[in-house]
Amino acid sequence: MQNDPLEQGSLLHYLWATRRRLRRGVILALFRSLAAAPGPWIFQQIVDGPLKHSDVHGVFVLSACFIGCMLAHYVFSVWGANEIAKTMSQLMVEMRSRIFFRLQFLSFSYLDGQKTGRLLSKYAFDTQKVEGLLTAVLNQLLPNLLMSICVFATLAWLNWKLMLILLLVLPIYTVAKYYFFGRIKRVNTEARLAQEKLTGTASEYISALRLVRSFGEEKQAEQELDRSSESFARTRVDQSYVSALFGTYVYVGMQVMSLIVVAGGTILAIHGQLTIGTLLAFMAGFGYIIAPVHMFIGLSEPYFAAQEGYTSIKELIDSRYVEDWHGKRREKRIRGDIVYEDVSFAYPSAPEKFVIRHLKLSIRPGEHIAFVGPSGSGKSTLANLLLGLYAPTSGRILIDGVPQSEWDMRWIRRQLSVVMQDSLLLSGSVGDNIRFAKPEATEAEVLKAAQQSNAEEFILRMADGFKTPVGERGVSLSGGQRQRIAIARAILRNPPVLILDEATSALDYESERLIQEALDRLSEGRTVITIAHRLSTIRNADRIIVLRDGDIIEQGNFQSLLAQGGVFAELISAQSSDGKFLQS
Ligand SMILES: Nc1ncnc2c1ncn2[C@@H]1O[C@H](COP(=O)(O)OP(=O)(O)O)[C@@H](O)[C@H]1O
Ligand SMILES: [Mg+2]
Repeated sequence: MQNDPLEQGSLLHYLWATRRRLRRGVILALFRSLAAAPGPWIFQQIVDGPLKHSDVHGVFVLSACFIGCMLAHYVFSVWGANEIAKTMSQLMVEMRSRIFFRLQFLSFSYLDGQKTGRLLSKYAFDTQKVEGLLTAVLNQLLPNLLMSICVFATLAWLNWKLMLILLLVLPIYTVAKYYFFGRIKRVNTEARLAQEKLTGTASEYISALRLVRSFGEEKQAEQELDRSSESFARTRVDQSYVSALFGTYVYVGMQVMSLIVVAGGTILAIHGQLTIGTLLAFMAGFGYIIAPVHMFIGLSEPYFAAQEGYTSIKELIDSRYVEDWHGKRREKRIRGDIVYEDVSFAYPSAPEKFVIRHLKLSIRPGEHIAFVGPSGSGKSTLANLLLGLYAPTSGRILIDGVPQSEWDMRWIRRQLSVVMQDSLLLSGSVGDNIRFAKPEATEAEVLKAAQQSNAEEFILRMADGFKTPVGERGVSLSGGQRQRIAIARAILRNPPVLILDEATSALDYESERLIQEALDRLSEGRTVITIAHRLSTIRNADRIIVLRDGDIIEQGNFQSLLAQGGVFAELISAQSSDGKFLQS
């Protein structure tokens, strides 16, 4: 991306990088300041001019000028604020879109370590904080600063001596800066961390509401959430305390400065160095001059919050943990020939624990292969590696004889359809959910996919058929129904490779039968990798691979493995005595 403002290290650099787009708003801010600048000078003129000559008419003329200035100021302010708000909201839409775009490229080695709530907080709250600050800077600080400069020049021109006195007291605020800013920054960091923790915990428990309630563990969840909530509340108290301290300090400082202007001005007037009109102009203009200082201080809190937010957004955007696939190769359609070539793998979060060890395996196009083995033996990991969600620690995977690194892996994933144990449905209609795999699919294609996955019948029985909305996670559907929608989704792509990761494990027998029937039909002419708990699913597989601790310990078809009398045969006898389940 060329001239990307988000490449900038700090918030101010970011703002600077967007200057072209903000130009209109900034020019209007300048006009707005110029329009208000003559105010104090007009006051001086009213008092010093017409008063001397008892010129009532002059008072009216000057007042009219003043009102004219204010009207112009008003128009420029509203217009400019609107321009800036429009540009800012556009910039934030871009920023959020960058965050989401980025999430698509970050590797799971990074994402595994992040709480969903924390990422959500970056997307929703941090961008809001940045927007809040930048809008305030552009709509309040900047115009006030310009105004302050204009008024400062006017007053210095009216009487430089009084201006000098005023300048001598300004350093009071510098002290404040050093003393208070560090503290404000610290409490803000604490507040942000506490907020992220709170949203993280809350989003976890809210999405697990069903689990919590069915275990009757509401107390535990409540306590945990209350703890996070309380520590967040504590940081808010600290924040309020520090701002109160600071606010009072600022107020007292302001009053002292007014006193200095009045007293200093009076002394100068006594010595004939200042007219009453000029003193009045100073009293009217003093507020304008000091306003940006005041505002700087008022903005310190949003500034640190936004700086924190920006840092947290940048941390995501600059994260080095992107998926490491740079291949470009695409073909019309892959054949579905898969080779694991001496693959070893440890998850980045546990680099010493190898979950796949020197695994060698070739899968022919159209072969139906099954992975079995106790849970934790690395079955899903093999599927994740094939999808390129993680890269092997050593060894490599070839697809149609070409290493993953040469393929465009994003395109490869569109050739591999996955059905998992717990299929997620997105909010939208049943039809939308099926179409997710292929947005351009026609109604007829969607219908056919539903027929093939044995889903058509129950879908048509629902009130609105394919238009029936399903909840955020499809809670209103049974596991078997959700799974059939997921299969329809997978099949809509007509993928050369189908991966079924315990696709039927969570289902009752009737659903399993319906789904198995659908799967058998759909397996024709593609490479199918079935990861299964239940034996019924894999009876017809061309080859069964038995895994333990990331190693292949046996392989062969159902009959030959049974005859071998090894681990697989043991699993089967355990299953038959244990009610149709493979031991895990
Ligand atoms: N995202 C992850 N980060 C770290 N370790 C993981 C992750 N996913 C799985 N593991 C570990 O890898 C091992 C194999 O897991 P998995 O492939 O899911 O087993 P299976 O699918 O055979 O039940 C297990 O010990 C599991 O704890
Ligand atoms: Mg698994």
